[in-house]
Amino acid sequence: MSEAKRQVAEAAAAMVKPGMRLGLGSGSTALLYVEALGRRVASGLTLPPAIATSKATEEAARAAGIPLADMMSADAPTRLDLAVDGADEVDADLSAIKGGGACLLREKIAATIADRFVMIVDASKRVERLGRFPLPVEVVPFGWAAASAAIATGLGVTPVLRMAEGGPLVTDNGNYILDCPLEAIADARAVADLLSPIPGVVEHGLFVGLAEEVLIAGPEGVTRLTRTP
Ligand code: 5RP
Repeated sequence: MSEAKRQVAEAAAAMVKPGMRLGLGSGSTALLYVEALGRRVASGLTLPPAIATSKATEEAARAAGIPLADMMSADAPTRLDLAVDGADEVDADLSAIKGGGACLLREKIAATIADRFVMIVDASKRVERLGRFPLPVEVVPFGWAAASAAIATGLGVTPVLRMAEGGPLVTDNGNYILDCPLEAIADARAVADLLSPIPGVVEHGLFVGLAEEVLIAGPEGVTRLTRTP
């Protein structure tokens, strides 16, 4: 599996051209991409400051010599040429579930402001229907149980508060994650529309209509799925 991840990471790094404004995703596949990109930077590729979508990616990018933007600054990038990220599940429409690594909020910001959003996955992530992977929803800690109850009522599932050692997992943004075991999502946009207005919900891990392309690594090498307009 790690060889497959390495292959898609290398293929994505090869897509980067000098001067591109980049979003750097999170998770093990995205970290391999950051390493591959770092090797290109070491051999002379010049890049403006990129957006890292998690503290872990920030650390990896620094170690790889990739310049990074300060996202707390008013001068932070507001558009990207290319964002590359992993995913937990991807369907034929290039809709995805993300957030297995609890980085979905920053990942969605990068994906949304990118002219081109490309997901890189191994073949195990390709599904007929989204939902077997529990849908992560980022919520503010204040009143998280109320948000959880609203999600339960709206979606008919019991959200599970994601735990870390010694208590709830806290995201890079200081929030909690509720994992929602939907099993099968018939209409991803309808689920997204139901979640977004719930007070306390910061973001959810459904990425619908965002990706232009998915690179999938399988036994026969890397294949590309592109979105049909
Ligand atoms: C993190 C993510 C990751 O991209 C997703 O979990 C895939 O990770 P990996 O490449 O390790 O399988 O959404 O929030």
